[in-house]
Amino acid sequence: MDYQALETCYKSIRQMTDFVPEIAIVLGSGLGDFADTIEVLGEISYKDIDNFPVSTAPGHAGKFVFGLLSGKKVICMKGRIHFYEGYGAEEVILPIRLIKMMGAKKVMLTNAAGGLNAEFRIGDFMMLTDHISLFAYNPLIGKNISELGERFTDMSVPYDKELCDIVRACAKRLAIPLKEGVYAQVTGPSYESPAETRLLRGLGADAVGMSTVMETIAARHMGMQVCAISCITNITYDISGKQPNEQEVMDAGKKNSKLFTAFITEIVKNM
Ligand code: HPA
Repeated sequence: MDYQALETCYKSIRQMTDFVPEIAIVLGSGLGDFADTIEVLGEISYKDIDNFPVSTAPGHAGKFVFGLLSGKKVICMKGRIHFYEGYGAEEVILPIRLIKMMGAKKVMLTNAAGGLNAEFRIGDFMMLTDHISLFAYNPLIGKNISELGERFTDMSVPYDKELCDIVRACAKRLAIPLKEGVYAQVTGPSYESPAETRLLRGLGADAVGMSTVMETIAARHMGMQVCAISCITNITYDISGKQPNEQEVMDAGKKNSKLFTAFITEIVKNM
């Protein structure tokens, strides 16, 4: 996809709204409820945007919801595009690019993730301090779109220090025992084998999932400030003895949805 194709999408959005968001929030599996708590000024279904890929993943609604939260202009992606659905990497990151073109300079990414760290429990929130992208396709492969960013994107500090401090402070205020760690993105859709689980843990990953890192890379390419939070929905089989399944991942996300919403709300107020 080139810049012109992006502009086509952007123009299509601009025919529907002139909303200029400050903060973008990408809502992961089972974590979409947050969008209901904002003062909604408008919604745009992905299917109504020219050239836009439509999410087919369960638990993902497929629309932008935008409005106000404590006076801040926010846009939520209710439903993201996953690589495992068969979309290309450029399609996966298209929404992040559009949100930046609309004006957002900060983004909070959320996801459901499997816990690799033996200290983690189902329902824990883990703030990403770093990531491993090596098992996911790098979304910046291909001709660089120089209107968006440079050819070689620095990834020394993928998750913004200032935003991470805000997330920590908010967790403290709400008495949430926030975990921190490294998230590894895999393509999915199959869950990890025992050898893959050991490999990821051996590489220093604390949680594993099928999203987020490609979006972080795209956001950093454009110079956005990024923070990300995983909801630990299952613990890997070698620790828990339980095989992950989609229903449990969704249920664990939903079970935590109230606290998660309160947490995100507090963070956005302070971003
Ligand atoms: N592995 C990969 N992705 C996931 C998992 C997992 O165990 N849980 C939720 N998303």
